[in-house]
Amino acid sequence: MASGDRGSAGAEAADAEAAGAEAASHWVRWHRSYEDPGSPLALRLRIVQSMVRAFLDSVPADHPRPIRVVSFCAGQGRDVIDVVSEHPRGGEVVALLVELDPELAAFARRRAADAGVHEQVRVVEGDASLCRHYEPAVPADLVLVCGVFGNIGRDDITRTIQALPGMCRQGAEVIWTRHRRPPDITPSIRAEFLDAGFEEVAFEDPGGYVLSVGRHRFTGAPSEPSDSSDSSEPSHSSEPSDSSGSSSRVAPFDPNAKLFEFVGDGSRPA
Ligand SMILES: C[S@@+](CC[C@H](N)C(=O)[O-])C[C@H]1O[C@@H](n2cnc3c(N)ncnc32)[C@H](O)[C@@H]1O
Repeated sequence: MASGDRGSAGAEAADAEAAGAEAASHWVRWHRSYEDPGSPLALRLRIVQSMVRAFLDSVPADHPRPIRVVSFCAGQGRDVIDVVSEHPRGGEVVALLVELDPELAAFARRRAADAGVHEQVRVVEGDASLCRHYEPAVPADLVLVCGVFGNIGRDDITRTIQALPGMCRQGAEVIWTRHRRPPDITPSIRAEFLDAGFEEVAFEDPGGYVLSVGRHRFTGAPSEPSDSSDSSEPSHSSEPSDSSGSSSRVAPFDPNAKLFEFVGDGSRPA
C-alpha cells in the first residue's frame, strides 16, 4: 500500500518519522546510545561528567569570573550542560561548545535552554579543528576533548595536545577520551600530556570496557598571545621539540591553526 493510500494523519506522521530516522546523520545516530544508561557511552559520559564536577569543585572561591570552558566536537553537549546546570559554581561558567553537525548543535542549544543555562553556554556550529573558533574563549579553565582522539590521526593527536597549553590558563584542566583497542596508544597520549606541561590528575579505564578518560592539569607557564595579524589561512601549528620529543616551550595560541582532520566514525580506530 502506498503511503498516500493510508489516509490517516498517524500513518503520515509515522512515515515522516521513519524518513527522519533514515535522514539522521551518522553522528546523530551515534549519540542515541546516550539514551541507554547501560551503554558504554553512557558510562563514559558519567565518568566525564564526574570529572567536570570534580574540576568545578576544585576551583578556588576567589577564581576570577568567568570560569571558562571549551569543548571540541561537543556533540549534544551533555557533559558540560548537565553539570553546569546543577553545580553550585555553574552560574560562574561561560562555555563554548563547537560542533559541526547542525542537528547536534541544535540539540545542545535546546538542552542548554531547557536547563536554563543558554545564556552561559554558547554552541557554535563549525569545524572544531579550526582554532579561530576558540579565540574569544581562551585562555580557558577547562577544555574537553571527548570523542576526538579516537577519530583523528596519530600526528593530529600530538598536534592537538601540543596546542592545548596555548589555550589553557595556568591550572586549567583538560578532560579527554580515547578507546584502548589494540594498539592501545593511551600510554603515549598520557606521556605527551606530561611533555606538554600537564600533570595527570586522573586516568579511568573501567575493567571490561575499551573506553578510557583522562584528566590533566596544565602546570606550565601560560604563553603570550601570538601575533596572528599576518595570515588568515589556517596553518598547522607545531612547536619545535627537543631530541627526546618533549616540547621545550609552550606554543602560543594560534587562531590560524588547524589542528586535525576528523576522519573516524566513532567505531573504528582512526
Ligand atoms: C565521537 S562524537 C563525540 C561527541 C561528544 N564530544 C561526546 O563525547 O559525546 C564526535 C563528534 O564530533 C563531531 N565532529 C566531527 N567532525 C567535526 C569537526 N570537524 N568539527 C566539529 N565537530 C565535528 C561529530 O558530529 C560528533 O558529534
